Amino acid sequence: VVIDLAVDRDAFDALVAGANTAMVIVTASDGRARAGCLVGFHAQSSIEPARYAVWISKANRTYRVAERSTHLVIHFLDERNRPLAELFGSETGDEIDKFALADWEPGPDGVPKLADCVTRVVVRRVALVDHGGDHVCIESEPVEASTRPDYRPLRYAAVKELDPGHPVD
Ligand SMILES: Cc1cc2nc3c(=O)[nH]c(=O)nc-3n(C[C@H](O)[C@H](O)[C@H](O)COP(=O)(O)O)c2cc1C
Repeated sequence: VVIDLAVDRDAFDALVAGANTAMVIVTASDGRARAGCLVGFHAQSSIEPARYAVWISKANRTYRVAERSTHLVIHFLDERNRPLAELFGSETGDEIDKFALADWEPGPDGVPKLADCVTRVVVRRVALVDHGGDHVCIESEPVEASTRPDYRPLRYAAVKELDPGHPVD
């Protein structure tokens, strides 16, 4: 079925929502401030060398910290991490300290690793690309990864009703 996007943007939105992406939380630290948010826009972007890309909204506090960060942690949320998804997706660090409400430990350059989510990749930034949209792409190389054998991804369908803490204008 071919649908003319100029007429029906809803078809694009439904297609993307139907892919039901696994959700992640991206955390950042510039050595002083910490930040993190729920992210649905993310993907592996190269095999050799290994690269991973995330797209962060310019409206988010996480963007303002991440653009000064050397490292990020990409936490692949498990179904059991729904409370973390609510905290990092529905609240903004401009108003509350999310890291006072979650257990974490510092990784490289102070970037927070969330204790309740061991399915995660620590990455070092290689590029930040602003194509003029409302999100910027941060592409990075993995430096550390850990997983659990019984990882069950928390997917978009389970969190789509959350109100983002920082809506895109
Ligand atoms: C289902 C869902 C998906 C989201 N995907 C993204 C995303 O891909 N990139 C992003 O920057 N923010 C995304 N957000 C929004 C942020 O997680 C949210 O606005 C957060 O409160 C921002 O926090 P901050 O201001 O502390 O950075 C998403 C939110 C929800 C509910």
